[in-house]
Amino acid sequence: MTWTRAVFVPAFAKVNLTLEVLGRRDDGYHDLASVMQTISLCDTLALHPAPPGELSLTCDVAELSGADNLALRAAQAIAADVRADGRAAGGVHIELHKRTPTQAGLGGGSSDAAAALLSLPQLLGAELALHHLLRIAAALGSDVPFFLTAGTALVTGRGERVAPLPDLPPHWLVLVKPQVGVPTGKAFAALTASDHAEGAHSAAVADALSHAVALPAGHMVNSFEQSVRRDYPAVEETWQHFRSAGAHEIHLSGSGPTLFALFTELTAAAAVWRRLRAGGHASWLAHTVAREAALAAVSAQLAGEASQST
Ligand code: C5P
Repeated sequence: MTWTRAVFVPAFAKVNLTLEVLGRRDDGYHDLASVMQTISLCDTLALHPAPPGELSLTCDVAELSGADNLALRAAQAIAADVRADGRAAGGVHIELHKRTPTQAGLGGGSSDAAAALLSLPQLLGAELALHHLLRIAAALGSDVPFFLTAGTALVTGRGERVAPLPDLPPHWLVLVKPQVGVPTGKAFAALTASDHAEGAHSAAVADALSHAVALPAGHMVNSFEQSVRRDYPAVEETWQHFRSAGAHEIHLSGSGPTLFALFTELTAAAAVWRRLRAGGHASWLAHTVAREAALAAVSAQLAGEASQST
């Protein structure tokens, strides 16, 4: 294996088109039903060849450069697998350029880990079956498995069961992040039985996508919406600004705090985005990324190196 040049790999963020929390489990996690969607907002990983066994990461957000970084932990898990196979693992230095805001409900850290899982086996000389990668992904975090499938998918269990769906038709998105952190664990703990759902909304959206019919109205629900809007005034305030800026249907992504709206026309999306920017809000204009496009973006980057590999 001769891997000589840096490889740039994109790590797309996600939004939750639906997110239903079904109930608390004995292991402390919650069962979910969620339709998730990759979007064009993305981080970039530069994967540099390093001496055998050396694994390191630097990030342009200083506090994410530590040993806890999920992309580095993904690299360590793959290298451990290669060694368990009795082979020598290669090395990698990861440079991580963050664009997706952290702790935002957009899966940024999870997507970085998945980008590493999708690209490093080939570069480090591992031969991992998909089910094995999925196991590593689920151990790293509940949102990580989805990003191995990407596109539009129905996610259940605590996040480890991912059923690909036909892609949501292309949409523009406007995202806005209230200036407040919502720790995921705390958001789950704040839910009461009345916030729990049965998964019927996610099933209805999945069914509409499977039959290529328009999304039925009223099913894009999020179990965290009520409690997060109630407990974090900055979220409610931003919600109202988003509405004043022209968004009609506003949704919370993950456990927040990021809000998003879908648009079919760029001019409508851009007008809302400009008003939010003018009001000083942290806001992004993005679009949906279909499964094939998301996965091809990674494999195309690896293609040049593959031709040099054994
Ligand atoms: O899996 P991850 O580390 O991303 O989860 C962060 C926290 O969110 C967990 O410690 C747990 O408190 C909560 N969580 C949950 N049920 C899930 C996913 C996450 O309760 N399905």
